[in-house]
Amino acid sequence: MGFIRHRNSSYSTLQLFFLICSCFSQFSTAIDTISVNQSIRDNETLVSSGQKFKLGFFSPGNSSHRYVGIMFNLPVMTVIWVANRENPINDSSGVLQISQDGNLVISDGQNSIVWSSNISTYVANSSAQILDTGNLVLYNSNGGIIWESFLHASDSFVEGMKMITDLSTKERNILTSWRNSNDPGPGRFTCGIEPSQIPQAFIWKDGYPYWRSGPWNAQVFNGVPRTKILYKHGLRLVSGSGYYTLTNLNSVFTYSQLNASGIILEKTWSDKIRDWEVTWMPQEGECELYGKCGNFGVCYAAGRPMCSCFPGFDPRSHDEWDEGNWTRGCTRRRSLQCERNITGGKNDGFLKMSRVKLPDNAKWFPMFETECRSECLNTCSCIAYAYYSGVGCMMWDEGLIDVQKFSSDGADLYIRLADSELELERQQQFTYSAAILEYLTAEVLELAGNAGSSFL
Ligand SMILES: *[C@@H]1O[C@H](CO)[C@@H](O)[C@H](O)[C@H]1NC(C)=O
Ligand SMILES: *[C@@H]1O[C@H](CO)[C@@H](O)[C@H](O)[C@H]1NC(C)=O
Ligand SMILES: *[C@@H]1O[C@H](CO)[C@@H](O)[C@H](O)[C@H]1NC(C)=O
Ligand SMILES: *[C@@H]1O[C@H](CO)[C@@H](O)[C@H](O)[C@H]1NC(C)=O
Ligand SMILES: *[C@@H]1O[C@H](CO)[C@@H](O)[C@H](O)[C@H]1NC(C)=O
Ligand SMILES: *[C@@H]1O[C@H](CO)[C@@H](O)[C@H](O)[C@H]1NC(C)=O
Ligand SMILES: *[C@@H]1O[C@H](CO)[C@@H](O)[C@H](O)[C@H]1NC(C)=O
Ligand SMILES: *[C@@H]1O[C@H](CO)[C@@H](O)[C@H](O)[C@H]1NC(C)=O
Ligand SMILES: *[C@@H]1O[C@H](CO)[C@@H](O)[C@H](O)[C@H]1NC(C)=O
Repeated sequence: MGFIRHRNSSYSTLQLFFLICSCFSQFSTAIDTISVNQSIRDNETLVSSGQKFKLGFFSPGNSSHRYVGIMFNLPVMTVIWVANRENPINDSSGVLQISQDGNLVISDGQNSIVWSSNISTYVANSSAQILDTGNLVLYNSNGGIIWESFLHASDSFVEGMKMITDLSTKERNILTSWRNSNDPGPGRFTCGIEPSQIPQAFIWKDGYPYWRSGPWNAQVFNGVPRTKILYKHGLRLVSGSGYYTLTNLNSVFTYSQLNASGIILEKTWSDKIRDWEVTWMPQEGECELYGKCGNFGVCYAAGRPMCSCFPGFDPRSHDEWDEGNWTRGCTRRRSLQCERNITGGKNDGFLKMSRVKLPDNAKWFPMFETECRSECLNTCSCIAYAYYSGVGCMMWDEGLIDVQKFSSDGADLYIRLADSELELERQQQFTYSAAILEYLTAEVLELAGNAGSSFL
């Protein structure tokens, strides 16, 4: 993920640094390209033309295994991509080369191939170049791109990478965490953008949702309030040209990594401390754990306890809930009029909750706000709706999962409740303690059939 922010970093200092660096570095070769019948040995590297990235063999952490990776060309080893992450070489006999069939391959001392770019068709005279963006590109003899590392992400995202490479096939570029800092093999966490009419970023643990950004509205991820700052600094999801990408118009040395604990960290190089600084981390606090408060539960980081049920809902199990085990969530107190199948009762209405991270599994409809509301009211299975600027009409029918309450930003969510429940909420508004009132966020109550009447 390239949730990218930047800080002022001096180019001239960095350039000076590289100048010094390249004079004294014994391993730096001046080349950035290898061609057929050329190879890179364990003690050699390719360096991009602007000296920003290098490609070569490395051993992570305390491991003695050898891997081929793309690294920032900085004094602190910073790997953004690993080729043979599942098949390390156990000594320094490895060779990276272009094979006769045109593939980029890594072979060990026994000449057995441990990794290949796996191009299926024969390409004569291909060549591979490490670019100043950090992309390793394999070209055919006409300069056409036949393979590139940017489309096969490891655990890091740098500017210019695409998260969704083809909107029509929904082909995704997924980050996969390392197993641990000594082993770049695929770990338990993955991260990517779920391509749909409402794009959301996810981190999955063993394939199950672990963190969710909330819907992207062309400027912010609804569940990551601080992304507004990032937008100012050039964060973009570009959909018009057929893919989503994140770009940073002012990037210096910055990248985002999904670390082995499933945390997304944006890091920026600091000349001052000569090390990486974490400049952004979207998952702060337990409320960021997907579905922390269960179905129909709301997480509020400042709340004690942090989980509460939606207004009109009670814990499914009071015992578990009181012990702080919120996973089973909450259940509706009074059934909806539309479910009760009795004519003559008062119609259901909506309760507005402000400043929330919208629930997962929204369905999108091409409707204006008033249509959205009446369509939800007229569809008994519709349990909530939202009209969010930049996204439009969303409805929910399965449940309301992974909802957070914020103290600023967020979106408005309208929850369907039985009229008797709304009546109760209206009376209780005045008796709730201040803390609970803030917690439940029921600021304005509106009756569906009587849209003008609001309370408080
Ligand atoms: C690469 O080496 C093979 C075998 O030695 C040779 O036939 C071929 O012409 C070489 N290709 C180039 C581009 O030098
Ligand atoms: C790499 O090691 C080989 C011997 O294994 C040596 O011939 C070569 O000069 C070394 N290259 C560099 C750049 O040190
Ligand atoms: C590497 O370090 C980890 C802990 O940081 C330790 O558990 C492991 O045994 C070490 N491995 C080697 C090969 O030294
Ligand atoms: C390294 O791997 C090769 C082949 O996979 C094997 O023959 C050799 O014994 C290994 N060496 C060590 C030191 O493990
Ligand atoms: C290349 O193909 C082989 C055989 O199908 C497969 O085992 C390997 O994982 C592939 N490598 C990459 C980098 O996709
Ligand atoms: C590949 O390179 C060799 C040697 O430079 C040349 O003879 C041959 O014509 C080239 N083949 C293609 C398809 O460009
Ligand atoms: C991942 O980042 C978090 C936050 O900085 C840190 O607490 C955790 O130790 C990191 N995990 C690893 C494996 O480095
Ligand atoms: C929480 O409740 C769930 C469902 O009843 C149960 O499976 C789980 O073990 C409980 N977790 C803890 C930590 O007690
Ligand atoms: C609703 O009422 C109709 C007519 O009285 C009946 O046929 C239907 O089974 C009822 N549905 C439910 C869910 O009770």
